[in-house]
Amino acid sequence: MNTKAFFTMDPELSYAMEEAINRLRINVSFFGSDIRKIMIVSSEPDEGKSLVAMQLWRQMANAEERSILVDADMRKSVMVEQYGIYREDGKELWGLTHYLSDNKKIEDCVLTTELSCGDILPNVDNVVNPSLLLESRRFSELLDLLAANYRYVFLDTPPLGLVSDGERIGHLCDGAILIVRGGMTPKSVIRNSIAQLERAGCPLLGIVLNRVGVGKGKYYGKYYGKYYGKYYGKYYGKKRKKDYNSYYGGRDFSGGK
Ligand SMILES: Nc1ncnc2c1ncn2[C@@H]1O[C@H](COP(=O)(O)OP(=O)(O)O)[C@@H](O)[C@H]1O
Ligand SMILES: [Mg+2]
Repeated sequence: MNTKAFFTMDPELSYAMEEAINRLRINVSFFGSDIRKIMIVSSEPDEGKSLVAMQLWRQMANAEERSILVDADMRKSVMVEQYGIYREDGKELWGLTHYLSDNKKIEDCVLTTELSCGDILPNVDNVVNPSLLLESRRFSELLDLLAANYRYVFLDTPPLGLVSDGERIGHLCDGAILIVRGGMTPKSVIRNSIAQLERAGCPLLGIVLNRVGVGKGKYYGKYYGKYYGKYYGKYYGKKRKKDYNSYYGGRDFSGGK
């Protein structure tokens, strides 16, 4: 029996964002029954992958399509922290890296939630080099097992531009939704990401233009002021470099290779 997880924090979405995700959900539901393993990916950090993955999963589960959200950003996952996720039984959380590297059982890592059709497989322990874990048979078999048990397997992933993890994951997925941050991601970078997905043999299912300053809802308004004040303009300078570097931290599974 899987344990239930609770979310302590839940950011409120603006009406515009809710609607945009709803349209995305409807589009996804037209893809056909072969498209089950869907990665949410982008070229760079902070484009909104994790937010879109979480909200799409939530809306799909609300629409009574059995869905699981897999946090496959094993280098820098923020899901557990950002949403304050904890287990109902009070025990320690285990996640994807535990399943892949410590031979934990699937039912110890997959958690049910308050959504009857929405389960999650979080990531708790970040690793420095997840390449070996992503290449392992255990990972591809896990995705197949999930796809057999859920209508949708949504994978939140690291940025394509930083490391090859995204391509490896893409190789195992039925398709990708590319998130592009409005006004920020250069076209050449986007083109490169599309080429990477092609190389990985992962069909591009759609592109989401995120973080465009339109709605004035709670989430947008509050967030944009603060965020853009701080980073806009400086992003491609030092901050960008730091983002790249900060992807390296956590447990090392490379065995020194
Ligand atoms: N459409 C949006 N409106 C407001 N804030 C957003 C939006 N998309 C992303 N954010 C915020 O931007 C930050 C980075 O988003 P996140 O989903 O973590 O990006 P990524 O997973 O691509 O690194 C988060 O704090 C998130 O809440
Ligand atoms: Mg993320």
